[in-house]
Amino acid sequence: MATMNAVPVSEAVTPPRLACFASGTESIRPCSVRFYMKSVFHVHSNFINKPEKLRSTVTHVHNPISYSMGNNLDLESGATPRLAGKVALITGAAQGIGKTTVELFVKHGAKVIVADIQDELGQSVCEDIGLENASYVHCDVTQEADVENAVNFATKKYGKLDIMINNAAILGKAKLSILDNDKCDFDRVVNVNLTGVFLGMKHAARAMIPAGRGSIISIGSVSSSIGGVSPHAYTSSKHAIFGLTKNVAAELGKHGIRVNCVSPYLIPPSVPAEITDLYPDIFANIYSNIKGVALKEEDVAQAALFFGSDESKYISGHNLAVDGGFTTINPGFGLFAPAKSS
Ligand SMILES: NC(=O)c1ccc[n+]([C@@H]2O[C@H](COP(=O)([O-])OP(=O)(O)OC[C@H]3O[C@@H](n4cnc5c(N)ncnc54)[C@H](O)[C@@H]3O)[C@@H](O)[C@H]2O)c1
Repeated sequence: MATMNAVPVSEAVTPPRLACFASGTESIRPCSVRFYMKSVFHVHSNFINKPEKLRSTVTHVHNPISYSMGNNLDLESGATPRLAGKVALITGAAQGIGKTTVELFVKHGAKVIVADIQDELGQSVCEDIGLENASYVHCDVTQEADVENAVNFATKKYGKLDIMINNAAILGKAKLSILDNDKCDFDRVVNVNLTGVFLGMKHAARAMIPAGRGSIISIGSVSSSIGGVSPHAYTSSKHAIFGLTKNVAAELGKHGIRVNCVSPYLIPPSVPAEITDLYPDIFANIYSNIKGVALKEEDVAQAALFFGSDESKYISGHNLAVDGGFTTINPGFGLFAPAKSS
């Protein structure tokens, strides 16, 4: 990271700079990563793939029974569902972390509203899980009417909203020099990642205040607390989410509403093997902040489950890093050897 900061912006992309960017790219999904790869490596967009996502999509197809209450096959044996009777709304839930969180929440007894702009995908996620437990609603988080409608959908269908997860986000264009960053691109990222979260908090609060309870969770990033690992707009928006979380927590505590962030590190394979194989020295251990463990979508979903459940009933205004210690360790200087992947 220190190396990256020392590299003049006009220089060609070098392996050290690539390593730094990649460690903050956070695998934000095919379109963004493709953009980055195309612009930096001049490769075809099919260069990036996400085999684990495809697997997880296929695994649950036409298997709604495994999600139904009373058949929580994947719950720890003897464990009580932790969200029984709760209603959750999750934005950006048609794929990725959002989708995995929907699946985990339903396994724990919640009714979940899947809100996204990918209508077919979002609807199929709900059908795979079972329409008695998951419902899709179109919701562009940048549009207040959509967010309002999604919250109203939840309260009309179930009479309440217990948990709001502001998960939808975009990485934006990965231009490494601020001189190349266009205002409209910056605005677009902030609009989705920050304004979308503000709208989610606002309309969730509208439903939760009369009930006198609720949990609002926003998905941040390691870029919510440190700089230098992802593009400017993304880092700005993710830092701001935590500021907003603290402010809204300060306001809503008196209504019994808790407001928290979950901030993940990058989930492999954010950087494709074609790249990691080219620079093995740099990439050997990017996913290995803790030896033998790599972050999974499920780990982020588990953190959201904790905040959604009553187990966290006295925690508010918190940013829970799910990053293997990445943001607490300054890689510019270290006494200790980093963990190895194996
Ligand atoms: N995947 C990672 O490595 C990683 C790391 C750190 C933080 N995060 C954060 O986790 C969250 C989920 O990331 P992911 O990797 O699962 O992302 P993803 O790209 O796989 O999914 C994002 C979802 O958001 C939806 N979306 C995009 N714009 C939207 C809009 N305007 N309105 C509604 N929905 C919209 C997309 O359709 C998609 O379904 C994001 O907040 C991201 O910043 C991810």
